[in-house]
Amino acid sequence: MKILVIGGGGREHVITWKILKSRWVNKVYCAPGNAGIREIAECIPVNANDIDGLIDLAREKNIDLTIVGPEDPLAMGIVDRFEEEGLKIFGPSKAAAQLESSKSFAKDIMKKYGVPTAKSKVFTDMKKARRYVKETGGPMVIKVDGLAAGKGAFPCDDEIQALDALNEIEKGKFKEAGTKILVEEYLFGEEASILAFSDGKNVIPLESAQDHKRAFDNDEGPNTGGMGAYSPAPVVTEDIASRVYDEILLPTINGMAAEGMPYKGILYAGLIITEQGPKVIEFNCRFGDPEAQAVIPRMATDFLKPIIACCDGTLDKVKFRWSKNKCVCVVQASGGYPGSYDKGKIINGLNKLEKMDNVVCFHAGTRISDEGDIVTSGGRVLGICGMGTTIKETITLTYKAVKKVDFEKCFYRKDIGKKATFHLDGM
Ligand code: AMP
Ligand code: GLY
Repeated sequence: MKILVIGGGGREHVITWKILKSRWVNKVYCAPGNAGIREIAECIPVNANDIDGLIDLAREKNIDLTIVGPEDPLAMGIVDRFEEEGLKIFGPSKAAAQLESSKSFAKDIMKKYGVPTAKSKVFTDMKKARRYVKETGGPMVIKVDGLAAGKGAFPCDDEIQALDALNEIEKGKFKEAGTKILVEEYLFGEEASILAFSDGKNVIPLESAQDHKRAFDNDEGPNTGGMGAYSPAPVVTEDIASRVYDEILLPTINGMAAEGMPYKGILYAGLIITEQGPKVIEFNCRFGDPEAQAVIPRMATDFLKPIIACCDGTLDKVKFRWSKNKCVCVVQASGGYPGSYDKGKIINGLNKLEKMDNVVCFHAGTRISDEGDIVTSGGRVLGICGMGTTIKETITLTYKAVKKVDFEKCFYRKDIGKKATFHLDGM
């Protein structure tokens, strides 16, 4: 089969790398891809949001299946457009993708179908939001309704921070995404990400992962798209996993079907494991980045099988197998990220990683310069992944690899996976 992967980050690199291992796949294109994806697949310079250009590309190359990485084209309705053209594509429709593209839509669905989530109130009027924040006081989370690349949530200790967050949003940097605001109950507990395949009726969770959203060690600094991940996440015990399935995944998939918006693709539940059990803080409508880099390498089942089954409505026929190995992914980022940062820095040491066993480097923000060097081109630059039998040994291996690669002003968190070691029994 010929596959087209849409996007050009670390998530799309791992998707391309894994799909190339499928026994049914003989050619993979990626649009637009990056310097790392270019080494394993044919990259075509069509932007991930250029839906007309991507339809032309799928036709021209006789693509059998398109896999969408990022949320923006999904929110724009790429799946509806491809299907109208008779092209097979993996991902939710525009209507179903609202679970990510509108936090207030997701809250309404969760409320209606009894899915446990943080309590919240929606505002379009900043004055009313400010009044509510002052009345409520205490810790709370301010969120913009629309897509914000992981940067639209402001966890606040008190009303002063919350008012600052509202001021920040009012400055307009979130554009349309910030015209509606949610003031949400602050949930306490450890975070986990559960990604699940769904064909609209059936839902099969993947193994758990934990992201590290804050920029700096010990969960300090601003929220980012994600600075590293590991899988499995021991905070997701068997009991928690079955509650996530019964209380969150199944009612959401059934609810979306009942609403006439069957959800096909990857449903990503961002969770906080509270004392009362798992609660949703967000849904995403695609693989997480960097969770995908920690979870997908552990999948022992042919990656194409569940993807095709989601498109065809036959997910109940797919059996999943997983490697028992742990996986840790450390993101190397450009100094300044998630704020402004320089680009075009030469990346040194990548060839040293190729010689290491059980280490893979997924590129996120990289490109080839006019001189032929691999240089930085984004905030998150590389996701370096290690695999091993215990979490401790995997963390050591991964950081050994991370130290071999460098570029000017590179920074990374030194504590990826540390939380897993707090639950060492059984790891
Ligand atoms: P989101 O964009 O909704 O995933 O939020 C980004 C990050 O903000 C999450 O990964 C959490 O660390 C934090 N967060 C979001 N919502 C809550 C909440 N209700 N309670 C506590 N922390 C939250
Ligand atoms: N890692 C968080 C996300 O993909 O949204």
